[in-house]
Amino acid sequence: MSRNVASQREKLLLRWDRESIVVRRRPRKRPCALRRLSRRRPASGASSATTLQDVAVLQYRAPALAAGSICRHYTGAREAALVLDVACGTGLVAAQMKKDGFAHFVGIDGSGSMLELARKSGLYQDVRQCILGDEDLPVQWGSFDVVLLVGALSCGQVPVAVVTELCRAAKPGGVVCMTTRSNLQNLEYKADLERELRRMEEDGRWCRVEVQEEEEWERAVSREEEGFIGGSVYLYRTAATEKLNPKL
Ligand SMILES: C[S@@+](CC[C@H](N)C(=O)[O-])C[C@H]1O[C@@H](n2cnc3c(N)ncnc32)[C@H](O)[C@@H]1O
Repeated sequence: MSRNVASQREKLLLRWDRESIVVRRRPRKRPCALRRLSRRRPASGASSATTLQDVAVLQYRAPALAAGSICRHYTGAREAALVLDVACGTGLVAAQMKKDGFAHFVGIDGSGSMLELARKSGLYQDVRQCILGDEDLPVQWGSFDVVLLVGALSCGQVPVAVVTELCRAAKPGGVVCMTTRSNLQNLEYKADLERELRRMEEDGRWCRVEVQEEEEWERAVSREEEGFIGGSVYLYRTAATEKLNPKL
């Protein structure tokens, strides 16, 4: 790794340590009991440029990979589709999907400062704040053609149980796209996530369309890992009738 990238990584680690606040969740069995989540408004001068810089340093590919998977398998009219972007951050996935022809987005995130940037991007018809895992998704169940949760299904962020809400938010026959990382610290979470995805498939809630495993997902940022960490994109189609989707 070049000295420049290494020092940028170091700065990122320091900045995240400084800017994140730790929200204590209800006591849980697993060590992922804490999560870092900024609920502050942006500091003066904070802008999406900072985030874009982070993305460039990390070589964060999840938004492009997720959008690619959705485009390969969403068969409806893209310009008419209603897309729910959960843990939307500043809107990187919506920006990619807009280039691919999607036009209607609702964004949800727990961080007020991220939502402010998402709102300013002009990509979203509506943005809503919600701490996933503590609060229900603030949406009408069964109303979205595409539901996505990219870059936040991991240890210390969004609890696995939230995937049932993603499924409920989608229309019957809609698609749900999720991603997770495959780095060492996230392996237990990833196994739990895949168990839940399988369980929901066995219950007839949805069926698996595609799973894409990538070795070069993004640059490692923990002090224990070097180079790139891996990640996965999961694409599911919800059961075609409400009868098969028992929670609707
Ligand atoms: C790495 S960013 C991903 C943003 C965007 N989806 C993307 O791929 O570019 C993770 C986002 O998840 C949000 N997040 C993490 N845990 C959350 C939770 N429990 N509830 C709501 N938002 C959460 C953070 O605020 C942040 O905006």
